[in-house]
Amino acid sequence: MYRTHNCGELTAQNIGQEVTLSGWVQKIRNKGKMIWLDLRDRYGITQIIFEENITDTKVFEDAQKLGREFVIKITGEVIERIAKNPKITTGDIEIKISNLEVLNASSTPPFTIEDESDGGDEIRMKYRYLDLRRNPMQQKMILRHEIAQEVRRYLSDQKFLEIETPYLIKSTPEGARDFVVPSRMNKGQFYALPQSPQTFKQLLMISGYDRYFQVVKCFRDEDLRADRQPEFTQIDCEMAFVEQDDILKNFEGMAKHLFKKVKNIDFDYNFPRMPYSEAMRLYGSDKPDIRFGMTFVELKKETDKKEFVVFNSAEYVAGICATGLASYSRKELDKLVKFVQKPQVGAKGLVYVKYNEDGSFKSSVDKFYDETDLKSWAEKMDAKPGDLLLILAGDTAATQSALNDLRLEMGDRLGLRDPNQFSPMWVVDFPLLEWDEEGKRFHAMHHPFTSPKKEDMVMIHNEPGKVRANAYDLVINGVEIGGGSIRIHDRDLQKTMFKALGFTDEEAQEQFGFLMDAFKYGAPPHGGIALGFDRLVAMFAGIESIRDVIAFPKNNSGRDMMIDSPSTIDLTQLDELNLRMK
Ligand code: AMO
Repeated sequence: MYRTHNCGELTAQNIGQEVTLSGWVQKIRNKGKMIWLDLRDRYGITQIIFEENITDTKVFEDAQKLGREFVIKITGEVIERIAKNPKITTGDIEIKISNLEVLNASSTPPFTIEDESDGGDEIRMKYRYLDLRRNPMQQKMILRHEIAQEVRRYLSDQKFLEIETPYLIKSTPEGARDFVVPSRMNKGQFYALPQSPQTFKQLLMISGYDRYFQVVKCFRDEDLRADRQPEFTQIDCEMAFVEQDDILKNFEGMAKHLFKKVKNIDFDYNFPRMPYSEAMRLYGSDKPDIRFGMTFVELKKETDKKEFVVFNSAEYVAGICATGLASYSRKELDKLVKFVQKPQVGAKGLVYVKYNEDGSFKSSVDKFYDETDLKSWAEKMDAKPGDLLLILAGDTAATQSALNDLRLEMGDRLGLRDPNQFSPMWVVDFPLLEWDEEGKRFHAMHHPFTSPKKEDMVMIHNEPGKVRANAYDLVINGVEIGGGSIRIHDRDLQKTMFKALGFTDEEAQEQFGFLMDAFKYGAPPHGGIALGFDRLVAMFAGIESIRDVIAFPKNNSGRDMMIDSPSTIDLTQLDELNLRMK
């Protein structure tokens, strides 16, 4: 027997018992006549004590040879600890060792396996199995497990069926590049890994399984960021005989259930629903962080018709008001200018207006605008003495995006983005189509099965960009946690949609013929949503990078450093697949 108890469960109640524990050597303190050892497993740490002349001589000798991360089995008596440690559950006791067995020695680990590790990112990725031994990593894995269980419980109680869908499929329409898998048995042909189970879940609705869900891996070959991995997990759901409101209510219910169970937070209000156009106008983003205000105020009218060519020639001029920052020094303002000029932010420059405590103004455009002008801006922006106005100008989309970055930066500086405060919301009424300047064509903003708003269909031929969709995103603290839509269930409308997207009938048939065919056999009205599970867990963990909530993630170049993948393959393997390297 390896253990009678785990390393996290013995307390004063067990004093006097003989116990056997197994685990890893976390730390050894050797004081000559006394040795203390911290034994660790998943459940906690228990202190083991060795005493010269009291402990069996062989055991005492063997203890000298132990090193960090050795796997050992010990037997001994639970005794009261003199120097108690209230920080851990086993802090009242220690084990007076009688027997020691080394189950496996360990090389010296490349970094310390403690809460605060001395290992850099790269090394911890390479030895991920060691990093996962650390308590903070374990806590994240446990959190992930708990959220998954709660998701399953909630959805199952709501009569959702968990049904698996295949991974070796045909291209799915989520807009990223596919990962492809060559077929040995069908030479020259490829499977695509699913970017999502989108088409299958719609087929399941046609099959009559009116509430489906799956906690499922999705694969997208796209550039990586803190909140993107090439393989990630979705809580994927679909429902039949529902309207948008039914879906929002159901998944708002799930979000509230998770907040209650995981964080003990009650939301006694309905999540706000904001049209996409409003989100763009006020926050310059389709995933606004509404933990704080600092919303955009347009100033084109107020700034026009003066000599300042930057504003005059701009399509869009807008600013935000940073409360209490009029005291910013020249240096701090220069830093902000540098921030907006970073390539990722992309603004050319930044105009500031200090609304000084004494009511006077100081701005970077004093040459062009007098006090009356600046005052009118301040009034429109609801600024008070002591506030700092930050203004950007340029093309609408690019400027909104840069001002969004600046708003979030100012939110951080002012401490308005507390990771323990949660502000969920729905963004609704997304545009159906998105203009792709490079390809000179429209793309589906969500995916091509998303239904348009009936009342907007009159514009589909002449002003397709203005048609809104029955599409929605769940946004929490500025992160797109999930997205979905009510689908098209009518063959003719689906055909119109493919046409608007520039598919010929043949292309549509070739790519999605199976779905179009299925629509012939009685497709119920349906819709769904998918939540990014990794993002959800990261948000609950209060961190930005989803990498830390995935047991074995890829690095920013899409590599698994631990198993060294991707890697080349054998010539024979290529041959079998009928492939040749270029
Ligand atoms: P969408 O493409 O919006 O919708 O994806 C749903 C959610 O998945 C998460 N997500 C990602 N998470 C980590 N890494 C990625 N690379 C990544 N890409 C997306 C996001 C996102 O909100 N089939 C539709 C859903 C539907 O219509 O029902 C879909 O996949 O949190």
